[in-house]
Amino acid sequence: MPNEHLHELFLDELKDILGAERQLLKGLKKMSKATENSQLKKAFDKHHNQTEGQIERLKEVFGSLGITARGKTCKAMEGLLKEADDIIENFEGDPALDAALISAAQKVEHYEIASYGCLTLLQS
Ligand SMILES: [Fe+2]
Repeated sequence: MPNEHLHELFLDELKDILGAERQLLKGLKKMSKATENSQLKKAFDKHHNQTEGQIERLKEVFGSLGITARGKTCKAMEGLLKEADDIIENFEGDPALDAALISAAQKVEHYEIASYGCLTLLQS
């Protein structure tokens, strides 16, 4: 397969993860607000800061390629965050709320890990 096609795929994945990280900022705010556990709240807030850092790093990657940092809506992240919204609604006041929030956040993380893993493979 010619490299230009793989490069196109790389750029598409890059736009997807930039969109996903931006979408996640809002999701982490909601999850932080939803928990009453100060440790978990702190973890979500820390992750929010790290996500802002990731967005800056992604912008640098776009810059190094000489293109404008433009993300696209990540449908997977949209779905994962919709599930997180449902969890917040369905488990409000339930002792299992925090476990449910952690579960939702783990799913998000694994999606991101897969995305960055693919990007690493595509750029090599
Ligand atoms: Fe995506």
